[in-house]
Amino acid sequence: MAMARSSLAPAFVVFALFCCYASTTVSSQASSSSDGFLKCLSASIPSQLVFTQSSPSFTPLLKSSIRNPKFFTPSTVRPLYIVTPTNASHVQAAVVCGRRSGMRIRVRSGGHDYEGLSYRAVRPEPFAVLDLSNLRAVRVDPQAATAWVDSGATLGELYYAVGKASGVLGFPAGLCPTVGVGGHFSGGGFGMLLRKYGLAVDHVVDAVLVDARGRLLNKNTMGSDVFWAIRGGSGESFGVVLSWQVRLVPVPPKVTVFNLPVTASQGAVDVVARWQQVAPALPDDLMIRVVVQQKTANFQSLFLGTCDALLPLMSSRFPELKFNRTYCKEMTWIQSVPYIYLGSGSTVEDLLNRTTAASVFSSGYKATSDYVRKAIPRDVWTNIFTQLAQPNAGLMILDPYGGQIAAVPEAATPYPHRAGVLYNIQYMNFWPMATADGSVQTKWIRDFYAFMAPYVSSNPREAYFNYRDLDLGENVVVGNVSSYQAGMVWGQKYFKGNYQRLAMAKGEIDPDDYFRNEQSIPPLAKSK
Ligand SMILES: Cc1cc2nc3c(=O)[nH]c(=O)nc-3n(C[C@H](O)[C@H](O)[C@H](O)COP(=O)(O)OP(=O)(O)OC[C@H]3O[C@@H](n4cnc5c(N)ncnc54)[C@H](O)[C@@H]3O)c2cc1C
Ligand SMILES: *[C@@H]1O[C@H](CO)[C@@H](O)[C@H](O)[C@H]1NC(C)=O
Ligand SMILES: *[C@@H]1O[C@H](CO)[C@@H](O)[C@H](O)[C@H]1NC(C)=O
Ligand SMILES: *[C@@H]1O[C@H](CO)[C@@H](O)[C@H](O)[C@H]1NC(C)=O
Ligand SMILES: *[C@@H]1O[C@H](CO)[C@@H](O)[C@H](O)[C@H]1NC(C)=O
Repeated sequence: MAMARSSLAPAFVVFALFCCYASTTVSSQASSSSDGFLKCLSASIPSQLVFTQSSPSFTPLLKSSIRNPKFFTPSTVRPLYIVTPTNASHVQAAVVCGRRSGMRIRVRSGGHDYEGLSYRAVRPEPFAVLDLSNLRAVRVDPQAATAWVDSGATLGELYYAVGKASGVLGFPAGLCPTVGVGGHFSGGGFGMLLRKYGLAVDHVVDAVLVDARGRLLNKNTMGSDVFWAIRGGSGESFGVVLSWQVRLVPVPPKVTVFNLPVTASQGAVDVVARWQQVAPALPDDLMIRVVVQQKTANFQSLFLGTCDALLPLMSSRFPELKFNRTYCKEMTWIQSVPYIYLGSGSTVEDLLNRTTAASVFSSGYKATSDYVRKAIPRDVWTNIFTQLAQPNAGLMILDPYGGQIAAVPEAATPYPHRAGVLYNIQYMNFWPMATADGSVQTKWIRDFYAFMAPYVSSNPREAYFNYRDLDLGENVVVGNVSSYQAGMVWGQKYFKGNYQRLAMAKGEIDPDDYFRNEQSIPPLAKSK
């Protein structure tokens, strides 16, 4: 069986390439399916919510949440249409019409996808973007400590609403306030509360999904496999997730944050090498991440308690950091959110700003990820610091694991990088779009990723789905359906043993593979 598969594989690849480059077929299909799509939509969606490429609002709207400008160039494959639903029935109509007229849909919530897959395709194909930014209500029930949040809301809008409703409730998700709930929850989602409370999806208790048949489903009607799958296994493979019900978590009235830079000449190599052992084993209330850039390791921390409680902990557990009271900043949890990501001059209201001008949004970038299960030797860190100090080098973000993220079994959600992980690494490299094409910086990332191979997880080399990287592999379409076998290459890196169960959930709800992109879960029939 395995041999037959591998001998067929090269033929499939040739077939797929042939299909992709038959661009005349794509464009003639495009015009016929376009007419049908628009006509079908006009029966159910007000025309002012549908934008064609010739509409003056099309380009500003497309650009409005593009967070990686390298995917806004003349050669980027753009959507033919953008639809901006204001209620669930518009989403259902867009799916039904898309399905009927052969127009695929890509869903965009916050637009932060590292590879831009929510608004661009790698190869020419006709598609429409369903932009959910109008669907962004957040309803908090502080008594029940729950909230319903629509996918088009940003993390900042969610945090803000939680902070307004209660001074002692929070939510464990990512740092960047402009990230969309839709994409973030679809891939797991972690931030400064990950050691205390795990992932965003560990707290999702219900969801509303529009499937490929246009049905509006909740946790019970979508089935337990699909409800499992959308909590970290790529929502876009299963349908359009409209909203999520989450359990909020307790936070103390006062938290402590600190930011402590250590340069190479101050002994950064030793402190980082030591951090690998210390940080994943600290009490869950204490999260210390590191951003290593050029010759400096920046230790960034959130502690769920006061400075008085933090001081003895730091001197007993991590004396190498030479922490003292002058670094402590006490504040409320909601104040810590903008403080940590946007800086000391920012306010809680800035969490509502969907267009905050972080430098990442004006630079092109390339990123990828690793997980470390065995501390990297000190001499390797010396080498790493040397490489990070080279011209055109990128940076590394180290997020320590342990605590609650590790306490959840690997199969409980699609996100499998749990017990045994010391920390997650994110690699990023940026370039100014005006003066560079990114080839040098992209090559740096690829070379550095190759260099790191012996020191990180292997078989599979694990990667975080929300730090999407198409270098890890892309789907191969065989007979109009993404190949399960080909998808294993990238799928097992993101999902380990959960990849197969995800493919079976996909086979249940979208066997025709209507919802697909370059890294969507391929469908697998339960029994052949
Ligand atoms: C500056 C920056 C900071 C980040 N910080 C963190 C962090 O601290 N922690 C962390 O875990 N991650 C972080 N990320 C990664 C982030 O979690 C992912 O990029 C996430 O997928 C973004 O979600 P989005 O809605 O903004 O993106 P989008 O580009 O809109 O969507 C991403 C993917 O999800 C799909 N999708 C979006 N909405 C839906 C929906 N409603 N239903 C089904 N599918 C949907 C899209 O089709 C696309 O494939 C960061 C990213 C950036 C750019
Ligand atoms: C959605 O909006 C349309 C108008 O475009 C309206 O007719 C319909 O009743 C609304 N549906 C819901 C469920 O609110
Ligand atoms: C391929 O699949 C799409 C979506 O399921 C469908 O609309 C289209 O008709 C299919 N194309 C062919 C050639 O079967
Ligand atoms: C705290 O550490 C900083 C940096 O090492 C040092 O300048 C300062 O004097 C220390 N403060 C106290 C109170 O020890
Ligand atoms: C949002 O942030 C941008 C960039 O910092 C700024 O120009 C704009 O004024 C802000 N908007 C609001 C409403 O504060």
